[in-house]
Amino acid sequence: MKRRHFVKSLAATSTGMLLLPRTPLFGANAPSNKLNIALLGTWGRGEAHFDAISSENVVALCDVNEEHLAFGAKKFPGAKTYVDWRKCLEQKDLNAVVCCTLDHTHAFVANWAMNRGLHIYCEKPLANSVEEARVVRANYLKNKSKLATQVGTQRHAIENFNRVRELIRDGAIGELQEACAWGNRQLPKPGYLPAQGEPPSHLHYDLWLGPAPFHPYNPDYFSGKSGMNCLQWNMYWDFGTGQVGDMGSHTMDLLWNAIDASLPTSAEGKGDPVNPDVSPVRLETHFENPANDWRPAIRTAWYQGGAMPESPSQYVDLKKIGHGAMFEGSKGTLVADFSTRVLIPSKNTADLTYYKPRTAATVIPPLGDFQKEWINACKGSLKTSCDFDYGSKLIEQMLLGLVAYRVGKKIAYDGTTGHVTDNPEANELLRRTYRPGWTLNG
Ligand SMILES: NC(=O)c1ccc[n+]([C@@H]2O[C@H](COP(=O)([O-])OP(=O)(O)OC[C@H]3O[C@@H](n4cnc5c(N)ncnc54)[C@H](O)[C@@H]3O)[C@@H](O)[C@H]2O)c1
Repeated sequence: MKRRHFVKSLAATSTGMLLLPRTPLFGANAPSNKLNIALLGTWGRGEAHFDAISSENVVALCDVNEEHLAFGAKKFPGAKTYVDWRKCLEQKDLNAVVCCTLDHTHAFVANWAMNRGLHIYCEKPLANSVEEARVVRANYLKNKSKLATQVGTQRHAIENFNRVRELIRDGAIGELQEACAWGNRQLPKPGYLPAQGEPPSHLHYDLWLGPAPFHPYNPDYFSGKSGMNCLQWNMYWDFGTGQVGDMGSHTMDLLWNAIDASLPTSAEGKGDPVNPDVSPVRLETHFENPANDWRPAIRTAWYQGGAMPESPSQYVDLKKIGHGAMFEGSKGTLVADFSTRVLIPSKNTADLTYYKPRTAATVIPPLGDFQKEWINACKGSLKTSCDFDYGSKLIEQMLLGLVAYRVGKKIAYDGTTGHVTDNPEANELLRRTYRPGWTLNG
């Protein structure tokens, strides 16, 4: 071993960090080149990760529901088991975490994992408040030379994401002026569920609530099918942000991937009357995003629950696209769903001669398997397509839109400091209050 490398690994070991060798010693699947992974949330979305992580050493499992923990332990019998993710993250041999717990714990887990030198794949949404998104990003930027992160927006690997980006970047619609995304999922609820019965003995309800304010137990929070149970709780403010964090994380990704945006300078929103218990079903939020090195300042927007952008043409029925995005430029419009796209040149002058399609050799290469991209990144490049810099900015903008909706006014935002500059009430809504004993950046 060269002295420079020896000193580097010695320094890492003495600070308690576990660094994997950057190059496989005995082939990609040799035991020495496997990650030691903790899976948090071992049923539901957690199950969707079983196959991808079974190529690695799954050494720790955590779930607040002991029946779900047993379900995970059947698949990974060698792993140690926990009901409190804070204890799980202290296990000494870990080097990576896959987090599939509830939305209101994601930013906590992300920070705690990175603060312990652990690579992390975190299910969407990465955060539930603007402050959470910013703290996660700051932590990631401090650690990006040694940690691989990925937000669980796995649709990003669909090749249409690349095609949409190429068309926008290469000028197929001329100069980009506006972009929006929308989703039609609707989960109306009147308010938090009333107290009903006692939590079953296999459920650690207090840990399920975690940092969220107390709400009494009701079995309906737990009555969804595996992988869909998030739809039983994600519309309640203390647990989630409704469709903003849910399908919004996926569908805005289609837009965000194509526009190279930095944080917006303003936000405004309107929709259902504000309900202190539940996030709105119908909502539209609008933003101004600064210019960058290839396009001018643009307006962006998110629509949900029946609110829709105006169609670019009477023969295009956007309502037939459940989750989609639209880009408007000086010479045309691009409409896309997750897997297909339609280009509509806008005027007689839009003859497409100004646009040169890429060749087979210059198209953006496919990303491949999204979970494996992260696993491979942990073992070497550290590069992922939805790292916590990219993902935290996307969700910060979406959550800022919810703040503007709640105050009912257009707000001005300083993305450098993370402050609303013209509305003290909105500033208060950038963060959440947690139950005693829970630390966001622990
Ligand atoms: N990427 C996607 O396409 C996709 C799809 C579905 C869900 N999700 C996300 O995955 C997450 C989980 O969704 P779900 O439908 O599986 O929810 P769920 O309610 O079924 O919970 C998943 C598991 O986590 C456990 N759990 C809850 N709180 C925990 C905690 N504090 N510590 C440890 N375990 C805990 C539950 O007992 C359950 O076994 C959500 O954040 C959701 O947004 C992502």
